[in-house]
Amino acid sequence: MKKKCDLLIHNAQLITCTDNGQPFGLVNMGALACKQGKIIWLGPNTQTAEFIADEIINAQGQVVTPGLIDSHTHLVFAGSRANEFAMRLSGASYEEIANAGGGILSTVNATRLASLSELTTSTCARLQHLKSQGVLTVEIKSGYGLDFDNEIKMLKAAKAAGEQVGIDVKKTLLAAHALPPEFSNNRGGYIDLICQKIIPYVAKNKLADAVDAFCEGIGFSYEETKQVFDAAARWGLPVKLHADQLSDLGGAGLVAEYGGLSADHIEYTSLASIKRMAESDTVATLLPYAFYALQETQKPPIDAFRKNGIDMAIATDSNPGTAPTTNLLQCLHMACCQFGLTVEEAILGVTINAAKALGIDDLKGSLEVGKVAEMVLWDTSEIADLVYWQGDNKVQQIILPN
Ligand code: NIG
Ligand code: FE
Repeated sequence: MKKKCDLLIHNAQLITCTDNGQPFGLVNMGALACKQGKIIWLGPNTQTAEFIADEIINAQGQVVTPGLIDSHTHLVFAGSRANEFAMRLSGASYEEIANAGGGILSTVNATRLASLSELTTSTCARLQHLKSQGVLTVEIKSGYGLDFDNEIKMLKAAKAAGEQVGIDVKKTLLAAHALPPEFSNNRGGYIDLICQKIIPYVAKNKLADAVDAFCEGIGFSYEETKQVFDAAARWGLPVKLHADQLSDLGGAGLVAEYGGLSADHIEYTSLASIKRMAESDTVATLLPYAFYALQETQKPPIDAFRKNGIDMAIATDSNPGTAPTTNLLQCLHMACCQFGLTVEEAILGVTINAAKALGIDDLKGSLEVGKVAEMVLWDTSEIADLVYWQGDNKVQQIILPN
């Protein structure tokens, strides 16, 4: 008796991103069956005769991967910071521009003035570009509102844009991104607003999946970050952190202490923090585009992450200041060429490890029975092509759960 399924893909180079003993978890000339939006079987081509399928895709020896995941973005924003890009090229540093009232605060001014519908429309265009490259899950942070109404507006825009584009958006509250001007003489007052009003409202109304902060000299201190994390923990929200980007404030160790999902940027992370990350399974999220655009020289301690068994994710960090891009595959290329990752590490960084960084690895990030049937068929038989060649789009078909 044959088994029924909705979709059968065969003759595929299946990049399962599992530990099956092969690089990338490759199943050479494999097949998989999906039913009701989930993968129900995966195996060798020779066994496909057991299935009757409503739809059959012959991959003709091309690569099939899980849908890619961009696990760190600031896609909701208004305005442009092209002027600051030019200023940095003339010698001004990111910190100098921020301290002079530019940087994040310049995007805050523009974002506060934009309506929910304007923000949703501009975010849709950015999401659409990511989706066209096979990115089917995207994390989006708030952090350019910096007051109750505007942080909520950003989270709503992220949700609406995901629904309109048909892409799974995970939302992160980043109210602790910068000190808003109205609190410039009252840091504690802003932390209280975040902890006592914004986090409780966001948690009660399920507006975000996680809480983030910018722990840095130009952001928030270790102690202030702790207060934000304590509030997140009280309200049952997992945490992640912009940590050790420009200096080592111990941020990666701090987020690990809270059992955090990920420490992001992490160029200056110490060995002591790495040991804590290893104990709490906190993912190291690399953001090579921000490193490149800021012309940083301190590289993240990749070898120490490897030696301590820390999973590495790669994300765009897409934002108008430090990462003006929606090109995730280019970030893979950069992670290899700038940070010395292997092609395999790069691919795992936007699949299973990115899923771990979002706490959704039970559902996404690999081709395994029980996971969401969200895949990409690429116009190549060689997985390295995704990382190697820049400029064309090798997506042949996007497969989303029905
Ligand atoms: O991840 N480092 C802090 N936040 C962003 C930059 C935001 C901005 O400059 O607008 C980042 O690089
Ligand atoms: Fe960021």
